[in-house]
Amino acid sequence: MAEIISIPDRPDEAMKRSISLLSNGKPIAIPTETVYGLAADATNPDAITSIYSTKGRPQFNPLICHMADMDMAQRYGEFDAISKKLAEHFWPGALTIVMPLKPDSGIHKLATAGLKTVGIRVPKGFAAKLIGQFDRPLAAPSANSSGKISPTTAEHVQADLGEKIELILDNGACDVGVESTIVKSDGKSVYLLRPGGVSADEIEAVIGKKLLRLDGAQDNKIEAPGMLTSHYAPNAQMRLNASAVNSNETLITFGHAEITGQAQAQALFNLSPKGDLAEAAHNLFDMLIEADKTGAEMIVVAPIPNEGLGEAINDRLTRAAAPR
Ligand code: TXA
Ligand code: MG
Repeated sequence: MAEIISIPDRPDEAMKRSISLLSNGKPIAIPTETVYGLAADATNPDAITSIYSTKGRPQFNPLICHMADMDMAQRYGEFDAISKKLAEHFWPGALTIVMPLKPDSGIHKLATAGLKTVGIRVPKGFAAKLIGQFDRPLAAPSANSSGKISPTTAEHVQADLGEKIELILDNGACDVGVESTIVKSDGKSVYLLRPGGVSADEIEAVIGKKLLRLDGAQDNKIEAPGMLTSHYAPNAQMRLNASAVNSNETLITFGHAEITGQAQAQALFNLSPKGDLAEAAHNLFDMLIEADKTGAEMIVVAPIPNEGLGEAINDRLTRAAAPR
C-alpha cells in the first residue's frame, strides 16, 4: 500500500516527501483540480518510463507536462499569440495547450512520445507549488491503470495503483472531476483535441471564434494519439441515453430525467439532482466507480445535455461504453 499524506494536515511533510521521491525519479500521485495525476520528472527518462509501466500505458501516448506558472511554461513551450491569450486567461486551470516544444528544452522525448510538440498545463493549488519548488516540469497522466476510470480521490488511486507507488498526496475530491480540455492553435484556428473541464463556449468567448473539432479518423493519430476509443472502462457493460432501466441494472441519472423502471433499478445514482453540469462532472468518475461496485452487469445512463461541461461528460461516457 502507498503512504497517503494529507496536504491540509501535513503540508510540509507532503512537500518534503514529494521532492525527495521525485528527485529519485519516482512517480507519485498528486491531486489537481481536474483528476489525480501520476507525476514524475519530465526531464528524467527513467522517471517517465516508470509512469508508463505503472499505468500499463502505451508509449506512443504523450504525457501532459505540468508547469508552476507562465514563466516556467515559456521556458519549455513556444507560445503563439492565441496560446498566450488562452494561457493568461485560463491558467492556473483545467486547460492544456499543445504547442511547439522549444529545442533543448530538457523535456525528455519519452514524455512527448517523440513529437515536436508538447501539451502544457499549469494546475491550481499545491501541485503548482510543488512544481515551483522542484523547478522542473512534471509529466502527469491521470493516476489510473491505462483504460480504467480516472481517479478523483486519493482512495481511488490507492485502490488501483496503491501496490505500485510509494506516495499519494491527499487533498480530498477534485473540484472539476474530469480531465483538462486540450486545445492546439495553428496561429489562426484553434482545434479542440479533447473536451474537458473548461467548456468550448468559455474558450470561444476568449478567442472570439469557434473551436474546430477534428472528426474521428482524420489526423487523429498525430493530433491526439491518446484518444483511444475504449477508455474509462468499468467492469460492467454500459448503455447510454437510456429512457428505461431493468430491475437487474444500475442507473446513473441526471436532474429530473424520466426513466421508466427507475424505482425498480438495482441501484440508483444521480450525477446532479438539480441538473447542474459542473456538479455532474465533479461526481462522474466516482459514481461510475461506485455504480460498478454494485456488481450489476449493465450500467444504464440517462441522457446528459451536450452543452457546456456536458460535452466532456458525454465524451467520457462514450469511451466508457465503447466496445473493448
Ligand atoms: O486534467 C488532466 O489533463 C490530467 C491531470 C493529471 O492534469 N491529465 C491527463 O493526462 O488527463 P492524460 O495523460 O491522461 O491525457 C493526456 C492527453 C492524451 O490524450 C495525449 O494524447 C494528449 O494529452 N497529448 C499530450 N501531449 C500531446 C501532444 N503533444 N499533442 C497532442 N496530444 C497530446
Ligand atoms: Mg487518463
